[in-house]
Amino acid sequence: MIKTINPRKAAVIGCGFVGAATAFTLMQSRLFTEMVLLDANYDKADGEAKDISHGVPFAGQMKIYAGGYDDLMDASIVIVTAGANQKPNETRLDLVHKNVAIYKSIIPEIAKRNFKGILLIVSNPVDILTYAAVKLSGFPEKRVIGSGTVLDTARLKYALSKHLGVDSRSIHSFIIGEHGDSEIAAWSSTNISGIPLNDFCEMRGHFNHEEAMREIAEDVKNSAYDIISKKQATYYGIAMSVKRICECVVRDEKSILPVSSIMHGNYGIKEIALSMPAIIGADGIETHVPISLNEKEMEKLHNSAKTIRKIAEELDL
Ligand code: 2OP
Repeated sequence: MIKTINPRKAAVIGCGFVGAATAFTLMQSRLFTEMVLLDANYDKADGEAKDISHGVPFAGQMKIYAGGYDDLMDASIVIVTAGANQKPNETRLDLVHKNVAIYKSIIPEIAKRNFKGILLIVSNPVDILTYAAVKLSGFPEKRVIGSGTVLDTARLKYALSKHLGVDSRSIHSFIIGEHGDSEIAAWSSTNISGIPLNDFCEMRGHFNHEEAMREIAEDVKNSAYDIISKKQATYYGIAMSVKRICECVVRDEKSILPVSSIMHGNYGIKEIALSMPAIIGADGIETHVPISLNEKEMEKLHNSAKTIRKIAEELDL
């Protein structure tokens, strides 16, 4: 049966920390009027749906319920958060075999139902799983979006805003590449409302550029490890990142976000997914935006691509 898409309906697959926080955030956002939650453990999805729905009278009318794959056919966005999450001392890439196996059971179920909306991949390692989701679904690539480095970029803006004493929303900067240990801060294109980063730093009394930026980028890269060692998981930041991507799709915003998608030769990278800034609207990824990178950033980007490719090649996709 083909159902027409309900542009105000979302589905969340996986009701662990990330899925539940995402559903809670989306409920508060009032972006959707209907949201179905799926989990391998139906009771977990049902419990989360009931708990979150009790916030509806304080936010705005909508339906939230636990369901199965038949309930996501008419959603405009399906958000996949299912899978194992990082334990202390594990990297995101350590999760790959477990989570690819989980995706091999989930993604074909979605594809079978002739889903026509946007598939938003959030589980880790997100770049490999975005690639896997495209291959396993057969969906057009522009409809498969990985949350990528949207969260890392938010972490970078937050850290820079503290360093510079300026609103994080006035900072234009991207973390690109892998959502993981080989990610890159694209410093050469960073600006604060049009003012080049180093000029703005000097305006705020900071002169030791290289050292300060190295420290900020390291802290951003390691922030998930830090949080996981203290509270076992990260979920609020990623939930807000997912909400931001959903806003772009539901409102056809055409905002530029560093999402993960398969590359086709841009920057000399092919056949793997990683994050580069792209225009996001109702149809998903419209086009990449060619930000300029200096030689050092380009070299790091190629190393990041190499790291991802090495893992992707070991998989049977
Ligand atoms: C994060 O960066 C673990 O990927 C997750 O918070």
